[in-house]
Amino acid sequence: VLKNLNLKNIKLQVEGSVAIITMNRPKALNALNNETLDELNTIIDGISEDKEILGAIITGSGKGFVAGADIVQMKPYKAEEGRNYAEYAQNIFNKIESLGKPVIAAVNGYALGGGCELALSCDLRIASEKAVFGQPEANLGVIPCFGGTQRLPRLIGSGRAKDLIFTGRMVKANEAFSMGLVNKVVPADELLNEAKNIMTTIISKAPMAIKYSKISINKGADLDLSNALELEKDLAALTFASEDKDEGMKAFLEKRDPKFINK
Ligand code: CAA
Repeated sequence: VLKNLNLKNIKLQVEGSVAIITMNRPKALNALNNETLDELNTIIDGISEDKEILGAIITGSGKGFVAGADIVQMKPYKAEEGRNYAEYAQNIFNKIESLGKPVIAAVNGYALGGGCELALSCDLRIASEKAVFGQPEANLGVIPCFGGTQRLPRLIGSGRAKDLIFTGRMVKANEAFSMGLVNKVVPADELLNEAKNIMTTIISKAPMAIKYSKISINKGADLDLSNALELEKDLAALTFASEDKDEGMKAFLEKRDPKFINK
């Protein structure tokens, strides 16, 4: 599915069962114009359909991860176009968030506006020491609209989210870590390897266990506790019915590594 894509602004490599998506529009610090969003959309659909791919890493080339929505493209927009643009990007980021496979953002540089929001739609965020995060939309007279006003407070709390969104200030990787915005900070030259190592650990587990725990965490966050626990029970039942559960528990009792088959 992923082989014959015609990509201009994003590089896609498949290493083993991991897709590595590199945002690559350096002249605009990888800002998300429509063409780039179209490519991202196609890639995510391809990863979703491809049974050989178990996880994805999103990173950027040059000094940007993604420096936001494309300001040149947005400048003439009025209400309707602005809303449509937000809706299109939100749909793609929703697909990333609900992908039945783990997605790690390996944040190499500027993750601003839509770039920070792209990282927020991933499951984990690993940052290079050179990474910079921020929601600078208020400088431009708009609000974060690729999910930032919703996912940022859900992840780091509304007080911290309002600090970033109201002031538009940029925070370096260590401060982002102290806010809970990133999982780990590593030297720049170790970033991709660290993301790959974490991904290798995750995909060595039963894929269905990862998929259903992801659904339980994400969907559960939108529910009250008793409904969320109902959801957890139903998803647990699905994993108990799986062949990988038989293998995982058998392997434990036989004191050997499990061989999961994603069934
Ligand atoms: N859209 C379009 N072009 C962008 C861009 C963006 N978001 N960010 C950077 N660029 C372009 C610059 O215009 C510049 O182009 P030229 O060479 O043609 O002048 C090129 O990328 C390199 O950028 P700088 O020269 O500005 O690089 P710098 O190192 O001096 O500064 C920066 C880096 C601090 C990231 C600065 O580029 C910057 O502030 N960029 C804008 C960040 C921003 O406001 N993003 C939020 C966009 S709004 C949004 O995303 C809304 C939403 O919720 C979805």
